[in-house]
Amino acid sequence: MTLEIKQASSFVRQRTKIKPKIALILGSGLGALAYEIEAEATLPYAEIPNFPPSTVEGHSGQLVVGRLEGKAVVAMAGRVHFYEGYTMQQVVFPIRVMHALGAEALIVSNAAGGINRQWHRGDLMIIADHINFFGTNPLIGPNDPDLGPRFPDMSQPYDPEFIALAERSAEADGAVIRKGVYVGVSGPSYETLAELRMLRGWGADAVGMSTVPEVIAARHLGMRVLGITAITDMATGEQVQQVTHEEVIAVAKEVEPRFIKLVKRIVREMNV
Ligand code: HPA
Repeated sequence: MTLEIKQASSFVRQRTKIKPKIALILGSGLGALAYEIEAEATLPYAEIPNFPPSTVEGHSGQLVVGRLEGKAVVAMAGRVHFYEGYTMQQVVFPIRVMHALGAEALIVSNAAGGINRQWHRGDLMIIADHINFFGTNPLIGPNDPDLGPRFPDMSQPYDPEFIALAERSAEADGAVIRKGVYVGVSGPSYETLAELRMLRGWGADAVGMSTVPEVIAARHLGMRVLGITAITDMATGEQVQQVTHEEVIAVAKEVEPRFIKLVKRIVREMNV
């Protein structure tokens, strides 16, 4: 594993002198932030050694290294999902490469269904904690002690200072921000009503098909993590509320300007 990470990170280093401090995963609702990065290198995943090859339905994705709000950043424009058929190791590989490039902090974004009845589609939610309901874990297999410990702590995966910063930043923007528990599921089918009621009983506020594997890998590496979710549909389990990918994408687009404004302010003020 270490060799594969070294090959990928030295490839990136040959293309830019920037040493990124902050890694970003631009999920649905934040994709256009990639265009606001003053890019020094834009590298299609297909060109980076050992990066997950793109699937038929997957948009290929690019790694963007540059400056955002004066900070050196590396961003994944497009992520890979477990439901596409990648192994968990492939899903988290880019996190390990971004860490090897120098990133100590990770800002991860996603779109999710809102389980909390008080909320509305279009809300933004700071991830306070998560539930791993993928049924697997990216750290299964031999542990590489150069990356992190065999049994990493997960009592506080989301950095309390970053959470406070995100809350302050939303307030400064005059924006309402939610805070809650994200449950990660494999997908790709959306949840049944019985599943949604179960997830609420477990304490989940939002459900989505990403983020948890990347956060586990980032914590394994000792990175500090901030997660923000765009609630793109309500999934309360109480009445038949059909979800479609088209709706998710449409609401993610609506949210995008607010989401980008918030994340730019957070990056500007992040103490890294
Ligand atoms: N469920 C799971 N994943 C999602 C949803 C949902 O309702 N909305 C966006 N991603």
